Amino acid sequence: MSKRAVAAPSIEEVQNLLRAVIDPELGDNIVDLGMAGAITMADGVVTIGVKLTIRGCPLRAQIQKDIRSRLEVHPWVTKVKIDWGEMTPEERTDVMSRARWNARENATDTAVPLSARVLAIASGKGGVGKSSVTVNLAAALAAAGKTVGVLDADIWGFSIPRMLGMPDRLEAAAVPGHDKPMIIPNERVIGNGLLKVVSTGMLVEDEGTALMWRGLMLTKAVEQFLNDVNWGHLDYLLIDMPPGTGDVQMGLARMLPRTDLLIVTTPAVSAQKVAIRAADMARRSFLRVAGVIENMSEFTCDHGKSYALFGTGGGQALADEVGVELLGQIPIEPAVAAGGDNGEPLVLTSSSEAARVFSAIAARIIADTPEVEDMAGCSARDEDVVVTVRRSQNLQA
Ligand SMILES: Nc1ncnc2c1ncn2[C@@H]1O[C@H](COP(=O)(O)OP(=O)(O)OP(=O)(O)O)[C@@H](O)[C@H]1O
Ligand SMILES: [Mg+2]
Repeated sequence: MSKRAVAAPSIEEVQNLLRAVIDPELGDNIVDLGMAGAITMADGVVTIGVKLTIRGCPLRAQIQKDIRSRLEVHPWVTKVKIDWGEMTPEERTDVMSRARWNARENATDTAVPLSARVLAIASGKGGVGKSSVTVNLAAALAAAGKTVGVLDADIWGFSIPRMLGMPDRLEAAAVPGHDKPMIIPNERVIGNGLLKVVSTGMLVEDEGTALMWRGLMLTKAVEQFLNDVNWGHLDYLLIDMPPGTGDVQMGLARMLPRTDLLIVTTPAVSAQKVAIRAADMARRSFLRVAGVIENMSEFTCDHGKSYALFGTGGGQALADEVGVELLGQIPIEPAVAAGGDNGEPLVLTSSSEAARVFSAIAARIIADTPEVEDMAGCSARDEDVVVTVRRSQNLQA
C-alpha cells in the first residue's frame, strides 16, 4: 500500500504524537510547554514551528530527532520540516515558571532535614578536585562546630571513604517513625562538629558486589541516599557529584530543588568552558549556583617562586560568566593529595595556603547561610530554639 493512500492526520493527532517529545531540561513535552507552534500539512509533508527558549539551545538536535521519529511513524507522513524560532522574553518567562512548577510538584520528600543547607560540588569535567574540595570543606565546617552530612554521589567512582579515612560498612536499623529500616550514616567527630557520611564505597564488600551496583541506576542510588538515610540533624549536606553533568544533577533538581551548586574549575580557560556547561545545566534545572571555586591554581615551590601550571583566570572568568562570586583559589600542594590518600583532609593537619583557603571558603559559606533560628517554620531544631528563648526570658525576669 502506498503511503499516500491513507488520510492526513488531524492537527490534534500531530499534537498528540508531539506530546511524546520531551524537553528533558524543562521536564515536560514540547506541546504543553508551548514550544510547538503552527502545524501545516501538504503532500505528505508536515511542517511544524518549534520555538526554543534560546536560539543556540544545545538540545535542538535531540528535539529535532525526536520530532522526526515520532511523526514519521504516521503512514501519511513522508517528510518532516521544522521551522525553528526563538521565544520572546515573555514566552520564556512563562515556560520557565511552568517548568519550575512542574519541578516542584514532582519533588519528592527526602529524609534530609529542611534545616540543612544543601551544597552539591560539581564540575564540567572529571579530575578537577571536586572530592578534595568536598572533604576539606566538610572537615572545615565540622571544625567550626557544624554537623555536616557528606553524600558521595559518585556511585561508581566513589573516593570519599578513603579521603575521610572512613572505610566502615554502613548498617541499617529500625528508626522510630519509619516503616522500613534506615541506613545509618558513618560518623566522625571533628572538634565540636560531626561528619555523617554515606557512600556506595561503604556498601560494596568485594568486586562482585560492586558489579551489582553497576546495574543500578545512578539517580536511584542517590535517591536512596536522600530518602533512606537517617540523617537526623544536619547543618549542611555536601554532595560530591560524579564528573560531568546530566542525570544526577537533574535527579537532584527534582528530589531536592533547594540544592545549591558549588562549581569547581581549574584555572585553564578550556576547563572553564567545560564548567560553563555545568552552570548552564544548573540554570536549566533551576538549581542555584552558590559560587565558583578555582582549584589547582598556582604552585609555589620551596624557593618561593610561583608557577601557573594550569594557566590563570579560569575561575574568575567562569564566576563572571555565571554572575556569582569566586569563593577562593586553592593552590596546588602535594599535601592536598597526600591528605586524600591517608584520610586526613589537609585543613585538619596543616596551616598551608591551601588549608587556609579551604577554611576561608567554609567561613564564607557559614556567613552566607542564615542561622536556623532565623528561618521561621523550617527548623528541625524547634525545640532547641524554644528552650533558648525561654532561657533568655528567664534571665530577663
Ligand atoms: N589543590 C590540589 N593540589 C594538589 N593535588 C590536588 C589538588 N586538588 C586535587 N588534587 C589531586 O588531584 C586528583 C583529582 O582530585 P579529586 O579526586 O578531588 O578530583 P575529582 O574532581 O573529584 O575527580 P573525579 O572527577 O574523578 O571524581 C587527586 O589525586 C587529588 O588528590
Ligand atoms: Mg571525585
